[in-house]
Amino acid sequence: MNTLFVRRNTLLAIISILFLSVLSGCTSGAQSETSDEKAQRPIMVQGPMPIEAEKFAERLENVKEEKSGSFVFYIGTVDDYPVIVAKTGKGMENTAAATAVAIERYNPIAIINQGTSGGHDPNLNVFDIVLGERTVNIGSMKTADKDENEGMNPTDWIPMDLMASEGSAGEDPDAEKIRYFEGDKDLLAAANAVKDTYSEGKVVEGTIGSADLWNNEVDRINWFHENYGTSVEEMEGAAGAQIAKEYDVPYLGIRILSNNKVNDGQYNPDTAASNQEYVYEVVKEYISEMTAE
Ligand code: 5AD
Repeated sequence: MNTLFVRRNTLLAIISILFLSVLSGCTSGAQSETSDEKAQRPIMVQGPMPIEAEKFAERLENVKEEKSGSFVFYIGTVDDYPVIVAKTGKGMENTAAATAVAIERYNPIAIINQGTSGGHDPNLNVFDIVLGERTVNIGSMKTADKDENEGMNPTDWIPMDLMASEGSAGEDPDAEKIRYFEGDKDLLAAANAVKDTYSEGKVVEGTIGSADLWNNEVDRINWFHENYGTSVEEMEGAAGAQIAKEYDVPYLGIRILSNNKVNDGQYNPDTAASNQEYVYEVVKEYISEMTAE
């Protein structure tokens, strides 16, 4: 064997090793990029009032706080997976804006909107929880056509779907229908999978109605229950659902009854904490399903 031959073989071996290590470096780099990318997309849990967000925020690990306007984002982890709790403030406008800001800023993989609500279903009691199989805006309506002195009658009002077209919702007959936002199937599955961990009431699937309105007229509540199929009402869910749909982000509303006018269920603010305990279990379940894939 001459020296030149040995040298050539050594050189070839070095080149091969370098080539292989570059290749494997690329592969492992690509793998870690994929899992990093996945890890960088947090689950977002929204709560309107301090009592509806801070309990969950306390459960986060490695928390830091960020603000945008009046929205507060508690950025941390649950079981080493990134989770952000957003204190949105009450109502449709705050929720819509906080959802859009959060999507643009944090690119969440899924959003859970949770908090308290008032019952529309006489079979639901204070401390029962409704998983939003669907969410609907019960403030989006068109009144009947009446002239001066013909009065006003809310039972004649008809639903108005603002997502029906880009044309005038007041003139478009296609917009005269109820728009339901479907809850995400995987989030619903995770919520159903842990419903036995909740012992303070029932956990059921249902319809969440939202508007900047607190209905105390039982006839009106019954009207929504019959015509829209609402289980509960609150002031945020449909606003978040609409924005999440516009950005194609999986979304679920989870609402505990803090009051129920139709069966004399008295308001109890402790329900807000109980709901967060349950939602914490849902988030852990969703993480374990996602990371097992
Ligand atoms: N009607 C409307 N909103 C309610 N909430 C609790 N109960 C009701 C109810 N009966 C929630 C809203 C809002 C705050 C006032 O409490 O979602 O955030």
